[in-house]
Amino acid sequence: MRTLLIVFHSRTGGARQMAEAAARGAGVEPDVQAQMLRAADAQSADVIAADGYIFVTPENLAALAGAMKEFFDRTYYDVLDRINGRPYAAMICAGSDGENAARQMARIATGWRLRAVADPLIVCTHAQTPEAILAPKVIAADDLGRCHDAGAALAMGLAAGIF
Ligand SMILES: Cc1cc2nc3c(=O)[nH]c(=O)nc-3n(C[C@H](O)[C@H](O)[C@H](O)COP(=O)(O)O)c2cc1C
Repeated sequence: MRTLLIVFHSRTGGARQMAEAAARGAGVEPDVQAQMLRAADAQSADVIAADGYIFVTPENLAALAGAMKEFFDRTYYDVLDRINGRPYAAMICAGSDGENAARQMARIATGWRLRAVADPLIVCTHAQTPEAILAPKVIAADDLGRCHDAGAALAMGLAAGIF
């Protein structure tokens, strides 16, 4: 049995729905166990124990959301050189952009010497006003489908020993 760790942070529900869809996708592969953890709860030992990763985060203020960054800050040096070469995918929930969070995520993953197995998946909610940005999000079915498929692809690659 191989383990896919999905670490996520979400304030208004968008990134959480994306993470859940990815976990459902990974669930199609019986030989892979998908474990979802909030960034605040994820520990270095969880990262070291897993065989592959999906990191799901909002973009806030043109950067990784603070809680996600705190997870990386807290675990980075414990984990360094202990997970080299393992596969990962990044998913960003954004209002209208998401590119800077994706870039930051890629730099951190490069530092950990992880292997990106897909381009960053960015979902834009198109919330523009403060009210819309602070409101609960409902991610569209086609975007959840992309997250589902990315989770399934990573899980299948893990099970098949491709990654
Ligand atoms: C303080 C704050 C800053 C934000 N900054 C950005 C930003 O720089 N770029 C962007 O595309 N969206 C930005 N957003 C929008 C969020 O990414 C969007 O609302 C997303 O749905 C948040 O994910 P969540 O629903 O999982 O909390 C910001 C939201 C907040 C609350």
